[in-house]
Amino acid sequence: MIQFETESDRGPFQAALALGKQKVQNLIETHPDFYPMYTVDGRWKHEGPVWTHWCDGFLPGMMWMFRKHSAPGSAEEQYWLEQAIRYTKPLEQRKHDRDVHDLGFVFLSSYLRWYRHSRDKALNDVIIEAGKTLALRFKERGQYLRSFVGDNSLFIDIMMNVGIIFYAARETGDRKLRDVALRHCLTTRRVLVRGDGSTAHEGLFDVDSGEFLKQTTHQGARGDSCWARGLSWALYGFGISYEYSRDPRFLETAEKCADYYITHANADGIPPWDFNAPNDTRKLVDTSAAAIAASGLFRLSRLLQDPVKGHFYWATGLRILRTLCDEHLAGEPDWQGLLKGGVYHLHKNLGVDESVMWGDYFFLEALDHVLG
Ligand code: GLY
Repeated sequence: MIQFETESDRGPFQAALALGKQKVQNLIETHPDFYPMYTVDGRWKHEGPVWTHWCDGFLPGMMWMFRKHSAPGSAEEQYWLEQAIRYTKPLEQRKHDRDVHDLGFVFLSSYLRWYRHSRDKALNDVIIEAGKTLALRFKERGQYLRSFVGDNSLFIDIMMNVGIIFYAARETGDRKLRDVALRHCLTTRRVLVRGDGSTAHEGLFDVDSGEFLKQTTHQGARGDSCWARGLSWALYGFGISYEYSRDPRFLETAEKCADYYITHANADGIPPWDFNAPNDTRKLVDTSAAAIAASGLFRLSRLLQDPVKGHFYWATGLRILRTLCDEHLAGEPDWQGLLKGGVYHLHKNLGVDESVMWGDYFFLEALDHVLG
């Protein structure tokens, strides 16, 4: 863990964590048992559509982190423990959800944190079941886990979810599960990660022959552009896949994506919503992509053999985190999210320049890395 020179170096990070606790406590009190996705004018509760159902693990995930960052034995710790369990439990039924490719998002942020806290085997069984369900999306013709939009579609986002299949494989010793996860990563690496380390959002296949046809996008600017959050999912997700598999190709890919991020983000470490955004939206940033990248860089920095590069990734993560704390926190009480400036889906005008649940979650996870 990084050594802070003085207590005041930690100050902004601790203040951001405290603000996060405040915002989430307000949410619990104002809208009990509600799992938000993105804000509209800073408010979590609204009639806006969700597009797909992938975010429910992030709110309990934040609560598990708050419990960890409360004084042991305190009333505060007890409060966050109770809330974390209350918001995690209802997700169990999602372990059989065949409609989404997001079961890693849902369970690794929530049930895995609960299991690590309690070591109750029944909780681990839930995670394993979810991993097996996700593996059912595997297409032998094409060698990938299909996205929620169709059999012919592979998303870069799935790199953040395939970890739950590696996890289930490790916990059960099931080599077929591990093989599915490995093949998905290899296909994603081949068809969605470009030579310069940039990524495409989606790949389309011929379902009959399994032939890869083309790169395209839903949330990015164009099929041949680099959607910033997709790149962040890739740099983080290939890092996780390396952690589970120790396949050096995945570490190499994670590094390539990280290097692309670092060399193409704005000088303060925050990326435009798409690295090839057209001029009229070029100034629009996505802070959630920055938060994911910061947390992913912290994880990657610990995996690298080269200490100089590891230190560089750590320092870059810190720079991103400092910018987020200095420029993008929602200090005003009537803005209900923690981090401003996230973008969910620009083309559908969902959550544009707003708070987004995954932005708050990965921002807190990045803080957790540096606060220890
Ligand atoms: N669907 C995942 C994302 O918006 O990044």
